[in-house]
Amino acid sequence: MKFQAIKGVRDILPPDSALWNRVEQAAREVFETYGYGEIRLPIFEPTELFARSIGAETDVVSKEMYTFEDRSRSAAELTQRCEEITQNPPSIRDASLFISYQRSVLALGENLKRAMASGQVPRTAENEQRLRKVLELLEAAESLGLKNLGEDVDAATFGGYLKGIAENFKSFQFGDSLTLRPEATASVVRAYIEHGLYNRPGNTKLYYMGPMFRRERPQKGRYRQFYQIGAELLGSSDHAALDAEVLEMLLAFFARVGLQGAILSINSIGDKNCRPAYVELLRAELTKVRDKLGPDSQRRIETNPLRVLDSKVPDEQAIIATLPRIADHLCAECKEHYAKLQDELALRDIAYQENWRLVRGLDYYMRTTFEITAPGLGSQDAVCGGGRYDGLVELLGGPATTKCIGFAIGTDRLVLSLQAQAASSLNASSGAVSSAIAGMSSVAASASAPAGVEVFLAWLGGATYHAAVVLARRLRGQGISVELPPVAMKFGKALNLASRLGARHAVIIGEDELASGQFTVKRLADGEQKKLSGSDLLAYLLSARKP
Ligand code: HAM
Repeated sequence: MKFQAIKGVRDILPPDSALWNRVEQAAREVFETYGYGEIRLPIFEPTELFARSIGAETDVVSKEMYTFEDRSRSAAELTQRCEEITQNPPSIRDASLFISYQRSVLALGENLKRAMASGQVPRTAENEQRLRKVLELLEAAESLGLKNLGEDVDAATFGGYLKGIAENFKSFQFGDSLTLRPEATASVVRAYIEHGLYNRPGNTKLYYMGPMFRRERPQKGRYRQFYQIGAELLGSSDHAALDAEVLEMLLAFFARVGLQGAILSINSIGDKNCRPAYVELLRAELTKVRDKLGPDSQRRIETNPLRVLDSKVPDEQAIIATLPRIADHLCAECKEHYAKLQDELALRDIAYQENWRLVRGLDYYMRTTFEITAPGLGSQDAVCGGGRYDGLVELLGGPATTKCIGFAIGTDRLVLSLQAQAASSLNASSGAVSSAIAGMSSVAASASAPAGVEVFLAWLGGATYHAAVVLARRLRGQGISVELPPVAMKFGKALNLASRLGARHAVIIGEDELASGQFTVKRLADGEQKKLSGSDLLAYLLSARKP
């Protein structure tokens, strides 16, 4: 049997992984200059955290989450016991069987109570209610059974009670519902509240990077396990300067990695004062044209009319163009905030487009929303999305005054775009790598560079092996990457393998080299060959690294 990665997930192999690391390193460096520190978050959280934060009606929560029940070992045993007891219910005619059934149910009830008290089984109001129901039904069955012992009268009612017991056991929640994180903002807010980060001085500025999980239809740039680099700012101020600074940092990062052709779009979607009235207006307008809309948009008229603005369905575009625009319905405060944001962006020379249809797919946003698109990605061209989410901390039980803004970059898409950019530069310069990458940032340039080893160190036999091991360790100690074959190799074969591995230099150690203390080094790009002593060799290799 041959195993393959499951649909929508993939391996990131060298040399691509080196580019990923450089991109992530650039994010760390840029974000830290803006005062952000890294937060490492769990990969899974209680399902309820995401349902509450992102919104139960969103695509992410209603269709795309990887959710599972986390049962402890004792909960698994209790589950099995429930099944065993309810599998063969006694008949009303057999008193002794009923009595042993009754004993088992009561014992199981006690065990479940204990398991809930100790936290091995979730202690929820629903579970407590189920247990109460079981005991009530058992009592009802007992009194009916005793009265009619040995007769068929009321057998159906008796059977109904036992069925009820089985159903309550079956619907019992034996484990916690957990979900692989589809995004990380909810987790950041959870951590912010859990650790009382609001007690620390100043704004809380956190960044994170890592995998997220959404069960979407896989295609280029859309995966079920994908990666984000994100940052969140939480604090007491919602000043538009903060929004602008977050955007400045984001664009500084894109500049650092050398991403070209990125376009920033912004919008304001109002707040809890002005948005509800706009949403109602939108709903009313959409209801008038309901028949002309597709099934998704029709459904969204009820669940979330704003999301209709997001629609990419070609037939709906002309209709959407005539809908009322939120900019005309913002309250004075939101209008002022949006105007200030634009002033702050102008002050920073940040170019942007306004897009009144930019509403985002997650429910927690208010006021500022933004997205960045990049070339080379086809239909999945959003490399970053974000916005302000001032109400979320309060919604999750933290201080109501907390204001927040943040973004997440899709790392997969960013890397794809950098690689597409590097490939098109190479084509434009008819394969001349050096001129193609001139002018690109080193991160972008490395998108096309093979990550071959620097030195292939061949030894020809006998005592040369020891010298090779010592030299390899010395070079690696200076940060030079060395490939050392475990067996002796003939000169020609060694050179051949070195060039197939993409090595920059081959260093050969034979008996002559050992005797003279001079190593033969060959530059594989042009065949230039030298004989150098150990320290000269090191200096030569180090100077060859400089661009
Ligand atoms: P989002 O727009 O859902 O926002 O995701 C942000 C970015 O993650 C997208 O622009 C895209 O680049 C990438 N992405 C999303 N889904 C996939 C996928 N299936 N495959 C590949 N890439 C994907 C959020 O997640 C918010 N938490 C952003 C945020 C932070 N807002 C405030 N703070």
